[in-house]
Formats: sequence, C-alpha cells, structure tokens
Amino acid sequence: MKGRNTLVWLCAITVGIVIKMTMGMAIHPAMFLFGDSLLDVGTNNHFHECTARADHPYYGIDYPDSIATGRFSNGLSSADLLAWYLNDYEFSPPPFLTLTESSATLQLELFHGTNFASAGSGILIDTGHAHFKRVVPLWEQIQQFATIRGNISQLLGNGTADLFLGISTCIVSVGSNDLFEHQNALVQNQTQPDQLIANLTATFAIHLQNLYDLGARKFGIIGVPPLGCCPKERYIDTQMGGNGSCVDAMNDLAQAFHASTESLLRNFSSTNQGVVYSLGNTYNIIMDFIDNRRASGFEVVETACCGNGTFNAESGCELGSKLCPNRKNYIFWDEFHPTEATARRAALTLAYADGPEFVTPMNFSTLAKAFTNM
Ligand SMILES: *[C@@H]1O[C@H](CO)[C@@H](O)[C@H](O)[C@H]1NC(C)=O
Ligand SMILES: *[C@@H]1O[C@H](CO)[C@@H](O)[C@H](O)[C@H]1NC(C)=O
Ligand SMILES: *[C@@H]1O[C@H](CO)[C@@H](O)[C@H](O)[C@H]1NC(C)=O
Ligand SMILES: *[C@@H]1O[C@H](CO)[C@@H](O)[C@H](O)[C@H]1NC(C)=O
Ligand SMILES: *[C@@H]1O[C@H](CO)[C@@H](O)[C@H](O)[C@H]1NC(C)=O
Ligand SMILES: *[C@@H]1O[C@H](CO)[C@@H](O)[C@H](O)[C@H]1NC(C)=O
Ligand SMILES: *[C@@H]1O[C@H](CO)[C@@H](O)[C@H](O)[C@H]1NC(C)=O
Ligand SMILES: *[C@@H]1O[C@H](CO)[C@@H](O)[C@H](O)[C@H]1NC(C)=O
Repeated sequence: MKGRNTLVWLCAITVGIVIKMTMGMAIHPAMFLFGDSLLDVGTNNHFHECTARADHPYYGIDYPDSIATGRFSNGLSSADLLAWYLNDYEFSPPPFLTLTESSATLQLELFHGTNFASAGSGILIDTGHAHFKRVVPLWEQIQQFATIRGNISQLLGNGTADLFLGISTCIVSVGSNDLFEHQNALVQNQTQPDQLIANLTATFAIHLQNLYDLGARKFGIIGVPPLGCCPKERYIDTQMGGNGSCVDAMNDLAQAFHASTESLLRNFSSTNQGVVYSLGNTYNIIMDFIDNRRASGFEVVETACCGNGTFNAESGCELGSKLCPNRKNYIFWDEFHPTEATARRAALTLAYADGPEFVTPMNFSTLAKAFTNM
C-alpha cells in the first residue's frame, strides 16, 4: 500500500515537471540553424586542422569586445540577426559542438535551439573537404540534430519533443560552396550545369526529408546569393581578362539553383503533411543592394572591406590586411561574406518583406509564428 502511494506520488511529480517544462520552456519555439559560413557561429573553431575559420582578427572587430568568435563577419552574423528578429534572442543559439562540451550547458540551452552550421560545408558530403580539411557536411549536421532530438525526448518524452520541434524553426543556408567547388569543372566543361543542379537538388531533397523524419516542420531556406558578384569572383574575372564585372556563369548557376530549390520545396511541402516553409530569394535581395546602392545605403558594392589586392579579394581577411574604416558602407566584409550591415538588412527583408520578390510563399516572421498541424 505504502509502496503504491509512493509510486502514485512519483508519477504526479513527474507529470508536474513535464507540464511545467511544457508550459515554461517547450511551448516557446526554438531555432535550429544548418548550413555554411553564413550561419556558422564557431563550429569550425573546434577543428584544429580546419582552414575555414574566422577566429582571428579582423573578424569580429565590431562584435562586443571585438572578439573573433568564428563568425564570418565584422560583427553579428545572419544567424544572430535572424535569431533576434524571429525569436527575440540576442545571439544565435551556440554551436552544437560547444553545447555538447558540458551536459549542464546542454540541458540549459537545449530549449533555445542549436546551431549546426559549418563554414565551407555543402549539400554534397565531400564539399569543402579537400579545400578546408575538416568541415561538418549537412549530412553530419543532421545526425547531430538527431542527437539533440534524442536529448530533448529524454527530457520531455517523445510526444512533447515532437510538439516542441514542430513549432520550432529550422533555418538552412546551403548550396553556395557546392557551386563554388564545381566552378573549375564547369569552366572546363567537365561538369554540365544542369546535371550539377539536378544532383544538388535531389540530394537536398534527401536532407530535408531526413529533417522532417526527425520532427522538423518549419523550414526557413536561405537561397544562394549572386555568387558571381562577390569580390573573389570579380577578382577571378580580372584574372580571366575581364574588367571585374560579376561572373555571369556563376550568377546563372545561382539563379538556376534557386529556381530548382523553389520547385523542390513545393513538392516537399505537398508530399509531407504539416510542412510550412519560406524560401528567401537572397539573389534578389543582394542584387537589389548592388544595383540600388544609394537607396540601400551602401557605397562600396564591389570591393571587400578586409583583404588585400584587387577588390581586396586576392587574399583572405587577416591581421595586416587592408581594413576599411567605414564598414557600414560596404556590402562585403571579406572576399565572400557580407558585413553585419548587409546581414542586418537582408535578415530584416527575410523576416518582414511583403510580396514574392524577396521571400516566398511567406516571410520568415510569418513562418516562425505559424502553428502546424502534425
Ligand atoms: C545526449 O544524447 C547523446 C546521445 O544519445 C548522449 O551521449 C548524451 O549524453 C546526451 N546528453 C545529455 C545531456 O542528455
Ligand atoms: C521514443 O522514440 C524513440 C525513438 O523513436 C524510441 O526508441 C522510444 O521507444 C520512444 N519512447 C517512448 C516512451 O515512446
Ligand atoms: C561540353 O561537353 C558536352 C558533353 O560533355 C559537349 O556536348 C559539348 O559540346 C562541350 N562543349 C564545349 C564548348 O566543349
Ligand atoms: C550526385 O552525384 C554524386 C557523385 O557523382 C553521386 O554519388 C550521387 O549519387 C548523386 N546523387 C543524386 C541524388 O543524384
Ligand atoms: C565590363 O565588361 C562587361 C562584359 O564582360 C560589360 O558588359 C561591361 O559594360 C564592362 N564594364 C565596364 C565598366 O567597362
Ligand atoms: C516536382 O514535381 C514535379 C511534378 O511531379 C516534377 O516535374 C519536378 O521535377 C519536381 N521538382 C523537383 C525539384 O523535384
Ligand atoms: C598586401 O599586398 C601588399 C602588396 O600588394 C603586400 O606588400 C602585403 O604583404 C600584403 N599583405 C598581406 C597581409 O597579404
Ligand atoms: C509578412 O507576411 C505576412 C503574410 O504574408 C503579411 O501579412 C505581412 O504583411 C508581411 N510583412 C510583415 C511585416 O509581417
């Protein structure tokens, strides 16, 4: 009799805790971020051998206390700004590899979300490997998400964990590195653009399905930017005898991949119950900054703020590089990446834009608020 009472009490306490957690924490949607350097907030710092790292000056020069955290920016990155506009977080959730260093931290932070993004990584498992030695491919990022899902399930139970993941937003920025990596093969006509796009899209579809099967329902996809207009590509254009204009072939590829992703997401959402998504047209957003530099508030749209040589893009940003003083006026921070000012304006556009030019079929703030039927 006594034993039975104890059992009843234990159950009551357990249920009490679960409900409290459900009301107090799990009911708030979290944010999970996947992909490449646009969203990496320090994942790659964990790999000694990795060369795609931003944990040295002048990265972070405008970050609080000028710390180089691994963000590929002079200050805050797109991950932080989206976390701010969509979830009221001051910063992005921490990297998975930082969270898992201590189980106390993990349990504390778990309900805000996790950042899995790794600079240099791509849709294809090999992307970034030869170049940067060690990155976390999207495939492995999703395995890490499965671990987090397991940890959440242990704390909340499977049903509540599903509810929690279902109302949380998954942000994905991927594809740029896959396209860059194949640039030479495309130029040399060893790879056909259509085949590359088809392969990337089909592989992306598998990744999204895996995320869905793990409980993700809300997908904020950040499309690839006009890759051909980054300072590095303008520099490459001059190397090929051009005058430093955008590399059309890379921009065409970026647009083709965007269109293909749009089709993929339509299919994906129609075949998987409960999926809601936003696709950000980063191509249009950045092109608009470049074409309307006055209206958008940028003065320098071709040259990187930090680097060296032609367009400040002959080498990466490092101690001793040329560094612009007026960083708010530049679209590009280094040879590939946007400044905080650009990331802020782009994140604002993704979050709140009206109409289909910049984000379809809904903006990211509407996505983040959506409650899906599971
Ligand atoms: C999270 O899950 C992993 C894999 O199951 C496990 O090794 C780890 O101990 C868990 N962490 C916590 C804090 O529960
Ligand atoms: C929760 O889900 C996991 C993995 O899907 C499964 O192994 C486990 O048995 C489930 N637990 C409960 C209590 O249903
Ligand atoms: C590129 O390769 C394809 C088949 O691989 C071939 O049909 C085409 O003629 C080649 N184009 C050029 C410009 O070499
Ligand atoms: C994409 O191409 C790679 C390498 O050629 C191949 O191994 C893979 O199976 C392809 N994936 C899809 C989904 O077509
Ligand atoms: C640079 O070259 C492109 C063609 O490759 C041309 O369309 C553009 O007008 C040129 N720009 C300048 C400033 O000469
Ligand atoms: C989406 O589905 C349509 C119709 O089944 C198909 O033609 C198209 O190729 C699919 N798109 C992608 C990207 O898989
Ligand atoms: C930048 O370029 C100049 C000359 O072009 C060179 O002297 C200098 O060492 C370079 N600095 C870095 C950090 O690469
Ligand atoms: C975002 O999208 C929603 C739904 O399409 C729309 O009502 C709203 O005006 C858009 N902009 C903002 C600022 O929310």
